[in-house]
Amino acid sequence: MSKLTASDLVVGDPAPGVPKKDPVIVADGVTRQFGGLKAVDVAHLEVPRHAITALIGPNGAGKTTLFNLLTGFDKPDSGTWSFDGKNLAGIPSFKAAQSGMVRTFQLTKSLARLTVLENVLLGAAGQRGESFWASFFPPIWSKQESENRDKAMDLLKRFKLDAKKDDYAASLSGGQRKLLEMARALMSDPSLVMLDEPMAGVNPALTQSLLEHVLGLKEDGMTVLFVEHDMHMVRHISDWVVVMAEGKIVAEDVPEDVMKNQAVIDAYLGAHHDTDLGSITGQLDMEAALKQELGGENVGSIADAERSEESTTSSKEGEQ
Ligand SMILES: Nc1ncnc2c1ncn2[C@@H]1O[C@H](COP(=O)(O)OP(=O)(O)OP(=O)(O)O)[C@@H](O)[C@H]1O
Ligand SMILES: [Mg+2]
Repeated sequence: MSKLTASDLVVGDPAPGVPKKDPVIVADGVTRQFGGLKAVDVAHLEVPRHAITALIGPNGAGKTTLFNLLTGFDKPDSGTWSFDGKNLAGIPSFKAAQSGMVRTFQLTKSLARLTVLENVLLGAAGQRGESFWASFFPPIWSKQESENRDKAMDLLKRFKLDAKKDDYAASLSGGQRKLLEMARALMSDPSLVMLDEPMAGVNPALTQSLLEHVLGLKEDGMTVLFVEHDMHMVRHISDWVVVMAEGKIVAEDVPEDVMKNQAVIDAYLGAHHDTDLGSITGQLDMEAALKQELGGENVGSIADAERSEESTTSSKEGEQ
């Protein structure tokens, strides 16, 4: 499926908060404060339907916090948002998921002591076996269970994890756990899939297939919103890019143009001052991309440092 263009997606010129022709999420005045820090301060954001939108920005920009708010895993101090026309502000995470909005986590949340198959089955929505009345009618329950099993096995095949269905999730590699989380998210037939750093910690051998899986979600009619530092992935698969810095949306544009925006350059280059080197892996990717874009000007030598899988994941320890 080919990429969408700005004229397919937006009304008017690219700018923070620009209206979309067919928005699936519309958020207004969403803020979240931690002590003295305004982690999220989004005046207006619209996410285009049936497109792949990348949410990028330096470490600590508020991307994960915004994901947490939109999906009901955290509560805002102010703000409203709708998903598919339904007001979702203040709604708990399971309700957001039931309405068709699912997300994966920056640190994978697979349950290590469950098998791969059991982990995927946890993603099934509205299991009749869980309802009080249905529990009196085992035949209903077992039909649903076998349908879910078939669906889970299809998803595991799609992500090439079917041979591992009976292994504990703990035995999977970081990349396989990302795929497992994606499989679990798809069990509920979502219309919007939100992925928080799907490529972080993924072995390069798996990255191509992960890119294809994300493109496949769009082909299947889903909307994708993903947080990512890997600019290769951002350029390759996204139709639209939203840039956050210090809690705010500072730019929106097509992937080919977004890195030319001065506000984006400032956000990335200005973000070094109080960041320690162990936690800027994402910035290294971004700076390498900037360097290409700018023909080597304006970017310090730090952009040449090696990207290390370990520092990407280790800097995230301690996050929910
Ligand atoms: N539960 C929390 N308590 C206190 N501060 C928090 C909490 N969660 C996030 N923050 C702070 O809010 C800011 C935004 O964090 P967030 O995790 O949303 O950034 P991010 O853009 O996802 O960064 P990264 O690219 O490193 O994942 C950071 O300064 C972070 O330290
Ligand atoms: Mg994050």
